[in-house]
Amino acid sequence: MSSKAPEDQYDAAPFVPERGGLPALRKAAAECRGCPLHLAATQTVFGAGNTDARVMLIGEQPGDQEDRQGKPFVGPAGKLLDKALAEAGIDPAEAYVTNAVKHFKFTQAEPRKRRIHKAPSLREMTACGPWLAAELAVVEPELIVVLGATAGKALLGSSFRVTEVRGTVLEREIHGRSERLVPTVHPSSVLRADDRESAYRGLVSDLETAARVLS
Ligand code: URA
Repeated sequence: MSSKAPEDQYDAAPFVPERGGLPALRKAAAECRGCPLHLAATQTVFGAGNTDARVMLIGEQPGDQEDRQGKPFVGPAGKLLDKALAEAGIDPAEAYVTNAVKHFKFTQAEPRKRRIHKAPSLREMTACGPWLAAELAVVEPELIVVLGATAGKALLGSSFRVTEVRGTVLEREIHGRSERLVPTVHPSSVLRADDRESAYRGLVSDLETAARVLS
């Protein structure tokens, strides 16, 4: 046995239960110390949705609002995503929504300033991977919508480039299962875009591809 603290092992696997479905996973994830991100975050933000969801949406990591509320995609990016999904013909309430990394990572320059999201490292993404693998094994979605580069790298490796494959249907072996995926941009990138309307239209168009796969 290693004498390292659990968070210094960078591996969530020892915390992932083998049985019990989503309720057991969610409960165990709340206690995850598989990487140091749990130390500063308010809580684990596990995936939301049902075991029978046909589509799984995978983002990067919880943001400030998600960290406070304990649910994925409840902040500004989530509101935009819900609107885009509905416009594309996918009911957000019927999707399973999760993130590649389950704890918020942030910098706080001054105590009373807003907490600024920081992208997770490859090490943190890899450490959190067993949770995503367990969610995929339990939900068995017909389609995965990959939201942005971090989710893409977590699922498909570091060579993933969202600009090269967005809006296309990919078939890949992931964690021993054959998965169908439609990558698109992260909804936060739409919020940051100079031409927000055109970025939003691009997101909806990619999600329409996902809707066609599901129909
Ligand atoms: N961005 C993400 O990637 N996930 C969330 O849950 C919220 C914002």
